[in-house]
Amino acid sequence: MATTRLISTLVLCLLLLLSSSTATHRRKIRSRRPCKQMVFYFHDILYNGKNAKNATSAIVGAPAWGNRTILAGQNHFGNLVVFDDPITLDNNLHSTRVGRAQGFYLYDRKDYFTAWLGFSFAFNSTQHRGSITFAGPDPLNKTRDISVIGGTGDFFMARGIATLMTDAVEGEVYFRLQVDIKLYECW
Ligand SMILES: *[C@@H]1O[C@H](CO)[C@@H](O)[C@H](O)[C@H]1NC(C)=O
Ligand SMILES: *[C@@H]1O[C@H](CO)[C@@H](O)[C@H](O)[C@H]1NC(C)=O
Ligand SMILES: *[C@@H]1O[C@H](CO)[C@@H](O)[C@H](O)[C@H]1NC(C)=O
Ligand SMILES: *[C@@H]1O[C@H](CO)[C@@H](O)[C@H](O)[C@H]1NC(C)=O
Repeated sequence: MATTRLISTLVLCLLLLLSSSTATHRRKIRSRRPCKQMVFYFHDILYNGKNAKNATSAIVGAPAWGNRTILAGQNHFGNLVVFDDPITLDNNLHSTRVGRAQGFYLYDRKDYFTAWLGFSFAFNSTQHRGSITFAGPDPLNKTRDISVIGGTGDFFMARGIATLMTDAVEGEVYFRLQVDIKLYECW
């Protein structure tokens, strides 16, 4: 009789312990802080028919009513741009490059200025080796968040969020983005 009571008390204790540790785990995930935070800038110079030497991006797709030299009307709907942009640690285009931002953006709404981004940061510096890959919608607001969907090398299995901020725009030729990367999974 006493043994049965002892066993049932032990089982109850074990169950309580298990459920409380699960709750703690859930709370931890919700209030987790980034395990790594980094800020970079990348610089995009779009080919416009005259700057072939300096351009770092090119329109590779245009709707039937446009062309691949100038972004189309109606919020550039249907344009697809491929880029290979330098990444710097500050907002100066001529600062030391720590890697390249490579990928594409496409304009996906006729009635509103918005884009979809898919690209990677390929790092090649003494500080960072490897890549971080980003993907998601870019509503072109002052600041917006994009998903960090993976990484390699120093950023093996990275997951998180990057806050993009348009730091400068010069006509339709140059823009600079500030990228505030917050990783919530680091290995
Ligand atoms: C290319 O960049 C160089 C250096 O920033 C600048 O002097 C030159 O005017 C640029 N050329 C074009 C065609 O934009
Ligand atoms: C491309 O389209 C723009 C207007 O959207 C036009 O001004 C320009 O002349 C066109 N260029 C070519 C090469 O067709
Ligand atoms: C990375 O940097 C090293 C040293 O500067 C250079 O030799 C190598 O070609 C670079 N690799 C790439 C992919 O840019
Ligand atoms: C982006 O900006 C538009 C217009 O200013 C606003 O209506 C919208 O709520 C913003 N979206 C986000 C996600 O901040």
